[in-house]
Amino acid sequence: MESTVNRRNLLASAGILATSAVATRYGFAQMSSMPGMQHGGAVPPKAVIQPIEGQPLPMLKEVGADANGELVAELRASPASAEIVRGMKTPTLAYNGMSPGPCFVAREGDLVRITLVNEIPGQESTIHWHGMPVPAEQDGNPMNPVKSGGRQTYEFRLPEGSAGSYWYHPHPHKFTAEQVYRGLAGAFIVKPRGEDPVPAAFGDTPLFFTDLRLASDGTMPASTRVDLMNGRQGDFVLVNGAYKPELSLEAGTRRRFRLYNALNAGYLRISFGGIKFALISSDGGLLEAPVADMTEVLLAPAERAEVLVPFDGSQRSVTVQSLTYDRGWMGTGAPSAAAVNLMTISVTGSAAASIPPLPAKLRAIADLGASTITKRFVFGETIKMGGPEGMSMTFLINGKVFELGRIDETMKVGQPEIWEIVNPTDMDHPFHIHGTQFQVIDTEKAGKRVAAPFKAWKDTVNVASKETVRITIVQDMPGDRMYHCHILEHEHLGMMGTLRAGA
Ligand code: C2O
Ligand code: CU
Ligand code: CU
Repeated sequence: MESTVNRRNLLASAGILATSAVATRYGFAQMSSMPGMQHGGAVPPKAVIQPIEGQPLPMLKEVGADANGELVAELRASPASAEIVRGMKTPTLAYNGMSPGPCFVAREGDLVRITLVNEIPGQESTIHWHGMPVPAEQDGNPMNPVKSGGRQTYEFRLPEGSAGSYWYHPHPHKFTAEQVYRGLAGAFIVKPRGEDPVPAAFGDTPLFFTDLRLASDGTMPASTRVDLMNGRQGDFVLVNGAYKPELSLEAGTRRRFRLYNALNAGYLRISFGGIKFALISSDGGLLEAPVADMTEVLLAPAERAEVLVPFDGSQRSVTVQSLTYDRGWMGTGAPSAAAVNLMTISVTGSAAASIPPLPAKLRAIADLGASTITKRFVFGETIKMGGPEGMSMTFLINGKVFELGRIDETMKVGQPEIWEIVNPTDMDHPFHIHGTQFQVIDTEKAGKRVAAPFKAWKDTVNVASKETVRITIVQDMPGDRMYHCHILEHEHLGMMGTLRAGA
């Protein structure tokens, strides 16, 4: 029996079937040989331990291009351990021993040559350059895995106009969600070739958000069935790898922050203690002009934004928070509805200091052109009862569970199309596609259509429960590209397809 309509009832009457016999079926059996692995029950274990907090905000380790405009680096993905809780060793996965991995910084026109060395025992991996305009065969898709013990060099040139806040993470078939929550992800900043329209005096501070759950022994428990269904949400949100870190700034500054939601499933609705800030960029780089007087910005998993936040000294201690957001939750174990404190900014120096003005313009964003070709992508969920496995859940796009090697859609290189992404389910799903940046046309919910308030380049867009989002999209390069829900556990359970762009 399959049902999408009666899911809540089914789950309730099944009491989520919270037995470990069912839960382990969803566990990552392949990982059981790794240090710190264990199968959890259906309800996420509550943390009884606290990470170290209040350290200075760690700066990401930058790896830049050389004088010839070439960024050559090696990324070793391997088991590591971190002291997240004082006196305890948490087994993690890390790039070059770091989580988040190094922050790559390059300029438009630069050549990037990065070698992945996969030292993860027993698992394939890849490096996917999330949001970046790289050729399909260099993009670390599941169909191009790097075996455990293997290596692969990814090479691409950053085109003009590609400046923006991107990131990278593994994308192997069936291990993406797990490798990411264990610590594999990092930032990739592309700077403009010419002058940056954002004054250098504003600084440039990436805030790379991840989250984690810790068992009482300091290890990360395996994902449970509830995690897979809702997306795994940790108990602690980290900023640049640290829990509730502190940053000190001078009064009278306007600071540029690059905000990255690198959580597997958690949404971040970020506020800076109520301070009115300006939004200046989306996933694919700068907007046309700053959007002033914002008090919060919602980032679904994988979304990024850049903001300019003024600190005039009237607030001496600014708490950066994630406000509550209801993304739909199935069954037990819903995260707390309270706002979450992410970090603290202490403001020093004389109060009422004057703030340098915002830039008036940032850049022009081209129109993608009109299109008569429309495609429709409908999210779905199924629960199957009975059979040898008891209850199981899959996540679908257009009624299909992902299958490696199957081409689900085709499009012509250079030809814009309108895509309608429809979410009839009870949960939000962030839609993401590889290899390009698209523009949102409008959103529609309960018969109300709202045009996108400004032009912006996006590679991930949240499609709220019962909402339809329309986008204009072009692929400039041929090849096979993944599109999927960026709640990584939903991607894991099948909410992904393959697009083939061709001549
Ligand atoms: Cu962030 Cu398919 O990826
Ligand atoms: Cu991606
Ligand atoms: Cu989803």
